[in-house]
Amino acid sequence: MQISDQSALVAGGGSGIGAAVARHLAGLGAKVAVLDVNLDGARATAQEFGGLAFECDIASASSAENAIGKARDTHGPARILVNCAGILSPGRILGKDGPLSLDIFRRVIEVNLIGAFNLLRLAAADMAKLAPLADGERGIVINTSSIAAYEGQIGQIAYATSKAGMAGMTLPAARDLARHGIRVLSVAPGLVATPMITGLPQDVQDALAQSIPFPHRLAEPAEVARLVQHMIENVMLNGEVVRLDGALRMPPK
Ligand SMILES: NC(=O)c1ccc[n+]([C@@H]2O[C@H](COP(=O)([O-])OP(=O)(O)OC[C@H]3O[C@@H](n4cnc5c(N)ncnc54)[C@H](O)[C@@H]3O)[C@@H](O)[C@H]2O)c1
Repeated sequence: MQISDQSALVAGGGSGIGAAVARHLAGLGAKVAVLDVNLDGARATAQEFGGLAFECDIASASSAENAIGKARDTHGPARILVNCAGILSPGRILGKDGPLSLDIFRRVIEVNLIGAFNLLRLAAADMAKLAPLADGERGIVINTSSIAAYEGQIGQIAYATSKAGMAGMTLPAARDLARHGIRVLSVAPGLVATPMITGLPQDVQDALAQSIPFPHRLAEPAEVARLVQHMIENVMLNGEVVRLDGALRMPPK
């Protein structure tokens, strides 16, 4: 799909990877609406390119319906959804204070996995009503999984489980929505220089960078955005989770 002039939703665009994706798609001529639970962050990103910003908790049906509806009112129904919203809540199954709180586990699944499905279903409903483009394509949904889907580390039980769910959702969602001309893909980043990582002490960041076989550095959020661009433009890519990790395979801890 050609990106210019398309209406696009970027969830989690108030920071990190989502902000880079929103900026990149706007630079390619898309009409971008930034959705984030952090409205100030969403506004700061959208202001850079004159886009829209709406408060949205992706785990809530009504909040997502409301935000997608507001974006639709101004930009028209979106053909592109990129979901980069996510949370990381570390904790071992059996920690110092006993078993991991079920509420912590549930919240991570609710935001990362159920939130991704919530946006997918709502955006797909809008896309299915649009006129088909070349090859009968109507829209594309890209989720942000993680290499933790495959190599979840000690203390990442909730996060890794949620990201594995997102990876597992990709093929069945693509098959399910194929008859509507809607593609579904996921990006599985390794270590990306966003507040999730740059908040760690410098020596920890350096050690993380050294653990990446090649290149020995964290990925830039803009490099994830360039993969998203390619996914949107290449109609043959569908139902796949693409790692972007410099050959990193995470050790147990
Ligand atoms: N940074 C990395 O190394 C890395 C690696 C692999 C995967 N990821 C994934 O990439 C995505 C983006 O990560 P990032 O590093 O840019 O993180 P980030 O913390 O910089 O950005 C995440 C954004 O999601 C928003 N958000 C959180 N909960 C939300 C909710 N319920 N509804 C709407 N928005 C919500 C936050 O407000 C924030 O703006 C996440 O899903 C993360 O798990 C990141």
